[in-house]
Amino acid sequence: MDRYAVIGNPIAHSKSPWIHTAFARQTGQALRYEALLGPLDGFAASVHAFRTAGGRGMNVTVPFKLEAYALANRRTPRAEAAGAVNTLAFDPAGILGDNTDGAGLVRDLSANLGCAPAGRRILLLGAGGATRGALLPLLDSRPAALIIANRTVSKARALAGLFAVHAAGVALDACGFDELAGERFDLVINATAASLAGELPPLPPGLYAEGALAYDMMYGRGDTPFMRAARADGAVRVADGLGMLVEQAAESFTLWRGLRPDSAPVLAALRRLIDAS
Ligand code: ATR
Repeated sequence: MDRYAVIGNPIAHSKSPWIHTAFARQTGQALRYEALLGPLDGFAASVHAFRTAGGRGMNVTVPFKLEAYALANRRTPRAEAAGAVNTLAFDPAGILGDNTDGAGLVRDLSANLGCAPAGRRILLLGAGGATRGALLPLLDSRPAALIIANRTVSKARALAGLFAVHAAGVALDACGFDELAGERFDLVINATAASLAGELPPLPPGLYAEGALAYDMMYGRGDTPFMRAARADGAVRVADGLGMLVEQAAESFTLWRGLRPDSAPVLAALRRLIDAS
């Protein structure tokens, strides 16, 4: 049976084995997908050992996405732009590195939430790896405007500069949170790590245009703190990042197996599982 795995540290919480096993069952693909705890000083060795043991591909999560980028000997344009790799595919030519996170986000917005980025004014909060991974797919989907706002403004500016070449027709800009006062957006995406510390980005009130969607890349049982704050500020629609998780997995599965799973029933089942946990 073809073998796949997700590697990270920690890894016990990962939903990827459950998601990919569901995709395999649904599409009738004979494969086994497991979770691997990667030693912090032994990522490359773990990947090589898995490949030697017959592995066909891997997902890569925290803290190894940069090492995976370096390890791949070929990379997709979206992985190059992200500067990080979450998907490895092994073939006779070596190791292909891809990044499916941003495509997963755009697909969740478009296919699951009815909020395709095209033509919208988008605010992207944060300027770390999560933001960088989302930028090329978001810009490629041609929003009217994309503003990157970050606590450390220089990091937001650096990202806007780096992606200017991909922004033809998109008003791409960067600023600090306080400079957002008076601005309104159709879509606000939280890609900061603030929630990990139980915090919120300090946003001025009144950011949400009529019908706007507030999207948190984090997920959990019920609303995240960002989703609650967005509702209180007038966002009528809110979503967490569980759909992005399932859709990035669907992108990886498609790369490996050459066919796209139907993600909607898998997302619905995973939601029920998390709500019941
Ligand atoms: P990731 O790879 O998850 O994006 P990261 O590269 O460490 O993680 O980036 C974390 C992002 O969350 C950064 O944009 C960070 O802001 P700074 O660049 O100013 O550090 C942001 N962040 C983390 N904690 C935050 C908080 N309490 N409020 C606002 N932004 C926060």
